[in-house]
Amino acid sequence: EPDAAPSGRLSGRTVVITAGGTREPLDPVRYLGNRSSGKQGIALALEAAAQGAEVTLITGIIDAELPPELPGNLTRQSVETAHQLQQAVLGAAEHADMLIMAAAVADFRPAEYAQAKIKKSEGGENPVITLERNPDILADLVRRRNSSGRGPGVIVGFAAETGDEGTDPLDLAQQKLLRKGCELLVFNRVGEDLVFGQDQTEVHILASFGAQGVLGEAEPVHVTGSKQEAASAVVARAAQ
Ligand code: CTP
Ligand code: CA
Repeated sequence: EPDAAPSGRLSGRTVVITAGGTREPLDPVRYLGNRSSGKQGIALALEAAAQGAEVTLITGIIDAELPPELPGNLTRQSVETAHQLQQAVLGAAEHADMLIMAAAVADFRPAEYAQAKIKKSEGGENPVITLERNPDILADLVRRRNSSGRGPGVIVGFAAETGDEGTDPLDLAQQKLLRKGCELLVFNRVGEDLVFGQDQTEVHILASFGAQGVLGEAEPVHVTGSKQEAASAVVARAAQ
């Protein structure tokens, strides 16, 4: 049981956690963003620090409070865009034992950044925003690690899915776990009023085939409760 975990089970370990959403600028005053609050990622970072790990918390845009005094074994770095997040993760994860990607990374960014504020002109055409793909930080890192043998032994992804008619979001999460190649994937169902910014959450922690061998259990862990409770279950599972 996560609650029975001895404190300090991550002492001597280095953990990198990303939290919040990225923001992709369009012009000096506008951006593309998302509704991630960062609450879950912050809870994970505090939990890993409480378990004795040396933690780097990389935050994008967050809409949640960090404690005024961070634990001495937790360092925070702030970024804005997916590119900046990637650079920060690559730097921090090289010597880390564990990476937890709780950040909501923008899949696309505006293909062009306008140096001056985009103006509307009377009778002009409506502007069209062309997007281009951002790197997949998580999948790239798994690939690098698997080919070089260096990097975090435990990589945890997140998947927020709404599902749609005829698609079970849990199935989408299982497919995503295979696609990403990480050891664990934390799935939560999202909707306009579900999960984003809330204190309560419901998560399923799915393990890859390889991780299942280590964990010795095939059943995904299911937690309904506070983001703190979810964080403690995720960190306990990852520590295993
Ligand atoms: N992620 C990432 N880099 C991206 C997009 C996502 O590292 N450019 C990470 C997220 O931090 C998360 C996991 O990948 O841990 C899954 O993100 P998600 O958006 O659910 O997956 P995608 O592969 O982007 O698929 P989708 O088309 O469903 O958005
Ligand atoms: Ca995505």
